[in-house]
Amino acid sequence: MLRTLIAAVALCAALPAAAQVQPGTAQAQKEASATSPDGKIQLRVSTDGDGRPFYAITRNRKPLIAPSRLGFLLTDAPKLERNFAIDNAVTSSADSTWQQPWGEWKTIRDRHNELRVRFRETTALARVMTVVFRLFDDGVGFRYELPDQPNLRTVHIADEMTEFALTQDGTAWWLPGAEWNRDEYLYNKTPISSVPLALTPMTVKLADGTHIAFHEAALVDYSGTWLQRVEGTKFKTMLEPGAGSARVTRDTPFVTPWRTMVISDDAPGLYMSHIELNLNEPNKLGDVSWFKPSKYVGVWWEMHLDKSTWSTGPRHGANTANVKRYIDFAAANGFKGVLVEGWNVGWDGQWFANGNSFEFDKPTPDFDADALAAYAKKKGVELIGHNETGGSVSHYDDQLERAFAFAAAHGESVVKTGYVTDAGQIERVGPNGEPMREWHDGQFISNHTIRVLTTAAKHKVAIDSHEPEKDTGLRRTYPNWVSAEHARGQEYNAWGDPNNPPEHEPNLIFTRMLSGPFDFTPGVLSLEGKGGNPIRKTVAKELALYVVLYSPVQMAADLPENYARYPGPFQFIKDVPTDWDETRVLNGEIGDYATIVRKERDGPDWYLGSVTDEHARTLEVALDFLTPGKRYEAQIYRDGPGADFATDARHSITIEKRIVSAGDRLTLALAPGGGQAVRFRQLK
Ligand code: NOJ
Ligand code: CA
Repeated sequence: MLRTLIAAVALCAALPAAAQVQPGTAQAQKEASATSPDGKIQLRVSTDGDGRPFYAITRNRKPLIAPSRLGFLLTDAPKLERNFAIDNAVTSSADSTWQQPWGEWKTIRDRHNELRVRFRETTALARVMTVVFRLFDDGVGFRYELPDQPNLRTVHIADEMTEFALTQDGTAWWLPGAEWNRDEYLYNKTPISSVPLALTPMTVKLADGTHIAFHEAALVDYSGTWLQRVEGTKFKTMLEPGAGSARVTRDTPFVTPWRTMVISDDAPGLYMSHIELNLNEPNKLGDVSWFKPSKYVGVWWEMHLDKSTWSTGPRHGANTANVKRYIDFAAANGFKGVLVEGWNVGWDGQWFANGNSFEFDKPTPDFDADALAAYAKKKGVELIGHNETGGSVSHYDDQLERAFAFAAAHGESVVKTGYVTDAGQIERVGPNGEPMREWHDGQFISNHTIRVLTTAAKHKVAIDSHEPEKDTGLRRTYPNWVSAEHARGQEYNAWGDPNNPPEHEPNLIFTRMLSGPFDFTPGVLSLEGKGGNPIRKTVAKELALYVVLYSPVQMAADLPENYARYPGPFQFIKDVPTDWDETRVLNGEIGDYATIVRKERDGPDWYLGSVTDEHARTLEVALDFLTPGKRYEAQIYRDGPGADFATDARHSITIEKRIVSAGDRLTLALAPGGGQAVRFRQLK
């Protein structure tokens, strides 16, 4: 029987497209399969009785993803989802390494098996769609390739029909999709079977303990996806809308982003995966050594505390004298960058409702850009530019060239961008001058992001984007995309109601952080928001964020006068690097706690960060990551006597030194809402 079917497929494939089997005719079926390099993940691809392509995954011989459909709904043609047969399946393997110009790891290994399955419609349309699967030991990615063909030229995608049918229930950590405040929500923790519509990354822990992080890689000229629960524990992609009826419009040939599932026995394993980066294209920008990972301070927190304003007037923060004060502070304490927000024309009035007023090369009269750039240079620091668009993206597109020319002319190698507007309210001028509204992860923004990155790169400018398109690992291809927000950051500790709870960071580490660097802007040692509102963590935890929340540009967000009050803990902020050779997650549970160690780039020292939620915990870690035979001075910043995020004792910290080596163990006693930061300085 099987033999006949395979013969039928072979015959079918040999015929010209127009002579394919007609609807209703019995359909050829064939299976294709592949495994991960270690054989533990097994993939099966086939079509059902209606010719619907599907894939299924087992891990350690146990079903993980039940048969899940593949395909597309189109706005102007029959869907690509039924009446398909496999006409070709090819496997291959790869094992290579590549280097990140900056990052959490210097060297990345890409070891995978690939299965390319070509489906052909058995109807007269005879359209062809290829699905490419890559199987890694720690997960799976797959994408569609739509080749150029007579019956598929311009493709108007109404939605992608990709399913993920989990075989078990469990717990999910997720942010709501399609909500007005985009990705700036607190994480929900619910049964998988009660998630409605979620952003990615969404992380789940199944009943049997298996951890899976769902996300996507290489979002290019396409719309980002939400995960919509269909029924039970089955999800499907729901592409973010665009201004038109199609969510994506593309001419063949094209490929979609990769749908990714990182799979691990535990939470640390999720973080250690390189699937996101490996599924992106190599560096297209060439040498980006002009970008130096570093720390920065800025005229920023004072506005969020309402001590000064973005708008001009008597309380304008970005005035020349105040910026000089920050430049002096940066120079005195070894920070390379000075971010200045509110420096340009457009902030007066309701700026977030009127992004069309922003000018990206016109300073306010009280901000002497030329003099400040020269002053910074003399002091060995540089300004970090700020381009807040208020979501008026066409208006920004029109100015990109001169925005980055201005930045470069003022010695700025990093520009922070901003897209503050409600979800679905990105302003765009349509092809005939008509106003259109877009979404932050829609196809229009996907292309805008690349316009920004490539224009900035021409001027040797790196981008740190806030309210950005989601991070899908594009930093590999465009390594001047150095950081992004895309989650609830420190600013919510200024004015959030509520501000961030202690579980926020342990949540972020195993959800948002799986997608890439986060410009969280840690370092508020005063632990006070607007009006003195207590920030719900300990000082030691605030320090640990520099290690656990990775970003190659890392802010010391507090006011200079506050750093003067806390010289002890401030030392760690001055010492901690922002670029690494290696990273290891020593322990962790989603939303509960995590301990991460990182070795500085091209140097011998290691740094440890450990954070907990509202519960105190004692974690014991082996120091076997240290180089054997070497002695290290452990500079320990730990929760002090009585430390507790909920009381004034959140400021209690003990700073001490010990000599340790690779054979030692360290006990981390974390207070409620606490943490620990350690520098392991290698001794000669
Ligand atoms: C939101 C950003 O996240 C924040 O850092 C910035 O200060 C404001 N927008 C103003 O641009
Ligand atoms: Ca924000």
